[in-house]
Amino acid sequence: MSIKEHPPQSEESQTGEPMHVPVLLEITLSKLQPVEGESYLDLTAGYGGHARAFLNRTDNYLDSVLVDRDENAIKTLGDLAEKGVTLIHKDFVSAAQDLVKQGRKFDVILADLGVSSPQLDRAERGFSFRFDGPLDMRMDNRTEITAADIVNSYSVDDLTQLIIRYGEENPGRARRIAQAIVKARPIQGTTELADLIKQTVGRGSMKHHPATRTFQALRIEVNRELKLIEELLPLLPRLLNKGGRVGIISFHSLEDRLIKRYFSEQATAGYEAELIVPEKKPVSGTEDVHNPRSRSAKFRYAVKK
Ligand SMILES: C[S@@+](CC[C@H](N)C(=O)[O-])C[C@H]1O[C@@H](n2cnc3c(N)ncnc32)[C@H](O)[C@@H]1O
Repeated sequence: MSIKEHPPQSEESQTGEPMHVPVLLEITLSKLQPVEGESYLDLTAGYGGHARAFLNRTDNYLDSVLVDRDENAIKTLGDLAEKGVTLIHKDFVSAAQDLVKQGRKFDVILADLGVSSPQLDRAERGFSFRFDGPLDMRMDNRTEITAADIVNSYSVDDLTQLIIRYGEENPGRARRIAQAIVKARPIQGTTELADLIKQTVGRGSMKHHPATRTFQALRIEVNRELKLIEELLPLLPRLLNKGGRVGIISFHSLEDRLIKRYFSEQATAGYEAELIVPEKKPVSGTEDVHNPRSRSAKFRYAVKK
């Protein structure tokens, strides 16, 4: 399944910033069971929706750490920093490596992968073809490569492979899209690219805009999303106290496949396993009718032995 363009979240914060409604909040709380005094590590803190709820339960701000690679998100977490939480503006692998080096361990860890609604809903971030913006898609604006760089420099073969692998696009359509992109260069805008794809491959299904898969592929490549998840997973047991719990929310099958594989390796590793996986199947987000983003969400969790 590919990522759908998430429908706009209608709410806005008092500062005019589109708000992010945390996904599967009740489920994450009930499975990870944060209790008073426990330390909390949020690897994708975003706008702090989950973090505030977890920290409300643990009431342990001093031993808790919130990570996000997006400067705009980190800026909204100042009130939690004032209460003693450590904020880290880095990708979660660099942050986790630093914490491992410092010998830090936590009782509860959460990673809510993917993009936030404010990232999607701000035209200038260039994640969405619902708004006309520059082809940017960087979660961290210190990253050098933008989606425009990829679109305007990769060969037809490289673009085709990218759209197949990360967009899960049909190979024939992927090649036609790649050829059209190379012919139309330079391409700078989100709607320019989306319109080109629509003209090239037609309207697509009723459910998805024909550019959805290409946009997914570009976003994953710009932000090295799957590589970072793969590097993060083996670090998690090293960051957990005995009995500590880690939960991961993913939004498409490419992400979930990596988590599922790692958790099942743990579940079958016998005495060498570092984690217990209480539930083989993920909890899915279909029941959360108030939050459209949650429809494609899957939650898996594990406990440190
Ligand atoms: C779905 S949002 C998290 C929302 C948050 N749970 C909340 O309730 O507000 C995902 C966040 O993870 C961040 N993110 C994604 N991949 C990351 C990575 N590899 N390292 C650090 N942050 C990442 C994004 O910048 C985004 O803010």
